[in-house]
Amino acid sequence: MNFVAALNEAAAKNLRTLEEQIRQAISEDPFIFAACEPLIRGGKRLRPMLFMLCANAKTACPPEKTMPLATALELIHTASLVHDDIIDTSKRRRGVETANSKYGAQIAVLIGDYLFAKAFQLVAENDYGAEVSSILSKLVKNLCVGEIMQDRSLFVVPTMTEYYTRINLKTAIFLSSCCKLGAVVAKAPSREVENLTAYGAGLGLAFQIIDDLLDFFGDETVTGKPHGGDLKSGVITLPVIRALEVSGDADKLKALVTRGEVTAEDIDAAIKIIRATDAVDYCRTRAEAHIEAARVNLPLTLKTSVSLALEQIADFVVDRTR
Ligand code: IPE
Ligand code: IPE
Ligand code: MG
Ligand code: MG
Repeated sequence: MNFVAALNEAAAKNLRTLEEQIRQAISEDPFIFAACEPLIRGGKRLRPMLFMLCANAKTACPPEKTMPLATALELIHTASLVHDDIIDTSKRRRGVETANSKYGAQIAVLIGDYLFAKAFQLVAENDYGAEVSSILSKLVKNLCVGEIMQDRSLFVVPTMTEYYTRINLKTAIFLSSCCKLGAVVAKAPSREVENLTAYGAGLGLAFQIIDDLLDFFGDETVTGKPHGGDLKSGVITLPVIRALEVSGDADKLKALVTRGEVTAEDIDAAIKIIRATDAVDYCRTRAEAHIEAARVNLPLTLKTSVSLALEQIADFVVDRTR
């Protein structure tokens, strides 16, 4: 399923405008445009879409109020991916060559910085106020801390608690902040802000668990990013953590993932060990539990169309292949 199917007509129109705005945001400088244009094309736009749906949850919010922030959210996300790919020395993203592979890490750092700065410029110039800036700053800080935590323990098996702390910081807080920002911009009552934030938090945990599964079992031509990349760069995720708990070959798997150098054969061997356990089902069950927790937080007071779209996004997150 493509979650664009979950959108009503108004949201789909907003999404088309968003695409134009993102393009425009990277158009000021010819080098930035040439470098970023291929990279912005293939994203799912989940974060701006969550924001826009939550901003329109009860009554229509004018596009001039949502569009700059929706654009900023996608720019911040893209910036974080540009930097993430430098850290992981990853060569493909959204089906095209990464900035670091094309221009080197030095230029790619600056491209990421540029996108962050452009996002905050859009926010500053559109009078969103201090609360919005504060939520945005905190989500970026949390994402950085999550990525730092991950980078400081490469090739080390995290505990379940450490794994959840990391995915919460690097991914779930971003998704929950998008929902929160929608509710804040729409001036929703505090109860509704909290509920939509909690929906985004559950969604975000499930989203990263499925991303971690896709890293092993996804199709590169569909995900648009390399397969086995996490193990290769030393990032140990839930499928491995679970397999290490239950596999008869746990010692062999542990040796493979902690040695500090992972070959293509090692990845195949690790996948074989993981597949022989309940790890895939376990990860799916965990993701579904977070999705269920997200769902129960959806306020009953939302417009039917928005509530339906948020339900369908929840379905998409666990069923997705990209
Ligand atoms: C990728 O996010 C980074 C993660 C948090 C797993 P997305 O899967 O939303 O990436 P795009 O925007 O669709 O490329
Ligand atoms: C999320 O994690 C990355 C960021 C928070 C930027 P991943 O490292 O799993 O994302 P992908 O798989 O590279 O998209
Ligand atoms: Mg990565
Ligand atoms: Mg990943």
